[in-house]
Amino acid sequence: MLSKKMEKAFNDQIKWEYYSAYLYLSLLSYFQSLGLPGFANWMGVQFQEEQFHARKMFDYVLEKGGKIQLQAIDAPPNNWKSPLAAFEFALNHEYVVTRRINDLVDLAQKERDHASAIFLQWFVTEQVEEESNFGDTVNKLKLVGDGGGLFMLDRELAARVFIPPVAAA
Ligand code: FEO
Repeated sequence: MLSKKMEKAFNDQIKWEYYSAYLYLSLLSYFQSLGLPGFANWMGVQFQEEQFHARKMFDYVLEKGGKIQLQAIDAPPNNWKSPLAAFEFALNHEYVVTRRINDLVDLAQKERDHASAIFLQWFVTEQVEEESNFGDTVNKLKLVGDGGGLFMLDRELAARVFIPPVAAA
């Protein structure tokens, strides 16, 4: 079973994962409106990844006999001043998610909840990939600026496809 503290912390994080999905859906619409379908595709894949994260945590809480309490999802922003500003916003969001996952691991250890600590290791590793993915594109955007390089990067980002992590393992 889960302690009440762990149960609440997981429910809070499920909301954050769904907020992340919402944020990336909003970013999809931003990039589509700029005429950058490859960037929009990339955000669409990220939207799916976040839903996977939320569902993975949701299923774990149920498996442990915990109670799910879904929460209202905040409205994300829907406008940024440039593609670079949008990706920097997303990268900073991922830093917050990483901090929250680390806090969850700390809490699991404090509660002597070894099962949750092990479960959360998947998310610790996933956040390394998340920060790296967003960070790479931030760096590329800094290199290409606003010129034709943006369209080449758009073609590159169009290739991203969603592979469910379980199938990929
Ligand atoms: Fe679910 Fe992007 O962290």
